[in-house]
Amino acid sequence: MTILVAYGTSRQGTAGLAEMIAEAFVRLGRGAVAVPARAAGDPTGYEAVVVAGSLSAGRWHRDARRWVRSHAAALRATPTWLVTSGPLDDSARGGAIPPVPHVAAAMDLVRARGHMTFGGCLAPDARGFPAAAMARTRAGDWRDPDHVREWVASVDAELSAL
Ligand SMILES: Cc1cc2nc3c(=O)[nH]c(=O)nc-3n(C[C@H](O)[C@H](O)[C@H](O)COP(=O)(O)O)c2cc1C
Repeated sequence: MTILVAYGTSRQGTAGLAEMIAEAFVRLGRGAVAVPARAAGDPTGYEAVVVAGSLSAGRWHRDARRWVRSHAAALRATPTWLVTSGPLDDSARGGAIPPVPHVAAAMDLVRARGHMTFGGCLAPDARGFPAAAMARTRAGDWRDPDHVREWVASVDAELSAL
């Protein structure tokens, strides 16, 4: 059985986070794949699903939103967790940052078992408006493999108890 980590990304930071999540499951002996939400298709048949999306101006990534809406019934029948990747500082490490309201609504829609916010990343040479301006003062990588592994271990324990 395989765990699907479906993700929505604008600048690939959440793709890397999704790979970290999948890798952490594999280290615990589970099968896991990270796939862009646009290419993920029907999640029926996966052991569990994690949906990760980046935040931009308070909005969860459109690909993650759309995929969750399109596959809500299948996700309700599968243990599902939602992930937000965002803060460009270490605040995600300081305590559980709650989901933004429409991610909370998506959790209700699919009866998600939980949510976690992980730190984001922004390259110093990010292009486009307003990313390039933000990058002048806030570029960096706050994705934390230890934080990811801790959270994946808690999901793994929950799956084992099902
Ligand atoms: C234009 C822009 C807007 C952003 N808005 C938010 C935000 O509202 N909240 C937040 O926590 N992070 C915000 N971020 C940080 C991103 O969520 C972070 O850089 C994330 O890792 C981006 O993921 P991606 O590379 O997969 O697109 C923003 C970043 C950019 C470039």
